[in-house]
Amino acid sequence: MKPLLGPTPALLAITVVLATIISFPVARCQDTSPYDICRQSVQCGDIDKIEYPFWLSGRPQHCGRPDFQLSCRSDIPMLRLGPVDYRVLKTDSSIHTVTVARNDLWTNLCPQTLYNTTYNTTLFNGNNFGQEDVSLYYGCQGILGVNPLAASFRFSCDFNQTQSDNYFYRTSLINTDTTISSILVQCNSHITVPVDQSWVNRILNATESELKQAMQDGFNLRWTAYNEECDQCVRSGGRCGSSSTSPDQFVCYCASGNFSATCNSVSVDSGGDAGDSKSNSLGIVLAIVGAVIVVFVVVIGCRIFVSRQRRKRHTIKERSKLVRLPVTTEGPEAANDNIEIFIRNYGNLAPKRYKYSEIEKMTNSFLEKLGHGGYGSVTKDNCLMGI
Ligand SMILES: *[C@@H]1O[C@H](CO)[C@@H](O)[C@H](O)[C@H]1NC(C)=O
Ligand SMILES: *[C@@H]1O[C@H](CO)[C@@H](O)[C@H](O)[C@H]1NC(C)=O
Ligand SMILES: *[C@@H]1O[C@H](CO)[C@@H](O)[C@H](O)[C@H]1NC(C)=O
Ligand SMILES: *[C@@H]1O[C@H](CO)[C@@H](O)[C@H](O)[C@H]1NC(C)=O
Ligand SMILES: *[C@@H]1O[C@H](CO)[C@@H](O)[C@H](O)[C@H]1NC(C)=O
Repeated sequence: MKPLLGPTPALLAITVVLATIISFPVARCQDTSPYDICRQSVQCGDIDKIEYPFWLSGRPQHCGRPDFQLSCRSDIPMLRLGPVDYRVLKTDSSIHTVTVARNDLWTNLCPQTLYNTTYNTTLFNGNNFGQEDVSLYYGCQGILGVNPLAASFRFSCDFNQTQSDNYFYRTSLINTDTTISSILVQCNSHITVPVDQSWVNRILNATESELKQAMQDGFNLRWTAYNEECDQCVRSGGRCGSSSTSPDQFVCYCASGNFSATCNSVSVDSGGDAGDSKSNSLGIVLAIVGAVIVVFVVVIGCRIFVSRQRRKRHTIKERSKLVRLPVTTEGPEAANDNIEIFIRNYGNLAPKRYKYSEIEKMTNSFLEKLGHGGYGSVTKDNCLMGI
């Protein structure tokens, strides 16, 4: 058993270094891979899965697109389009559609500052949902006295004590009705807001609270954010995102890396993201250093082991000269080695004379033990492992 002590420290060192190298890249990937970060679901209020192209402030922008930033305010996800904040009520990635409602009209139909519903039509498209604009007219003095019909479309404002009438009407019908249009031109200002398809036919019969409800139900917008590319990326197992260095560019983040379209298509070069390329090269350097250490340890270990073996064999040979063996010429070469091993192990005992037949018996039985022992195979494996 004594010879086993030789390779044990080397074996231990190799194990430790290998374990470090194997576990190191795994830990790194879990921490920084955009694939892992972007697939974590992010929640804000009722929206429990904020995903591409949207991204919450505080999360990496490359998990979404620059124009689709959301902010979570009092558990309400807000999307800013132009000067107005919109509450995000629902998103549906399968049809690339978001349902939004104007935050400034949520509780009060009369905001301090009036804005139309405007959005970048390159990014959002409100057509093909069957929804229609409703016009809200503000500061219309004395119309009710002129035309009692207008009472049906009247709504009041909560702010200021000043008497002013306000009216709403389906935008597309204003110009078809000359009476209405001649009344509404006298108002100070107006804005238009889309309402859902379900409201289109009943909005003109709606009460003021129903008008409020229609505003809170919101309207749909279909987003344009590399939709086709994203669908294909998701189908291939990836997560859609944008390049952190050139945000206009689409990137498909996969477990196997960054790709321009689908997982395992054309790989995207990180292009010099300072922080990441630094940590990447640090990882490579550490891996190389680790590998060098492993090889070094293995080589040194093997060397020490081999030289130790040689020294042992040498001393055994020296000793074997002292031990008088009954047979030196007759026995086969193998027998000599066996005897040496035998003597090495029994060398501490006082020299004794043995008959050749006795030695042969003992040696054979010892040979068997050696053959099954871990010593020989451990040595071999150690050296092979390093190569
Ligand atoms: C709409 O968005 C696109 C993409 O971000 C941008 O290039 C364009 O200038 C925007 N248009 C307007 C009118 O803001
Ligand atoms: C409300 O009153 C303030 C002054 O009290 C005035 O500046 C503001 O324009 C009024 N708003 C409307 C919509 O009339
Ligand atoms: C809203 O847009 C209409 C035209 O679509 C315009 O006449 C109106 O002045 C705009 N309202 C505001 C508050 O800008
Ligand atoms: C609802 O509004 C339509 C006009 O869009 C009108 O013709 C109809 O009479 C109204 N119905 C009721 C019950 O007021
Ligand atoms: C992958 O994309 C992320 C985010 O854009 C970037 O930080 C990283 O460097 C990229 N990795 C490679 C290997 O290009």
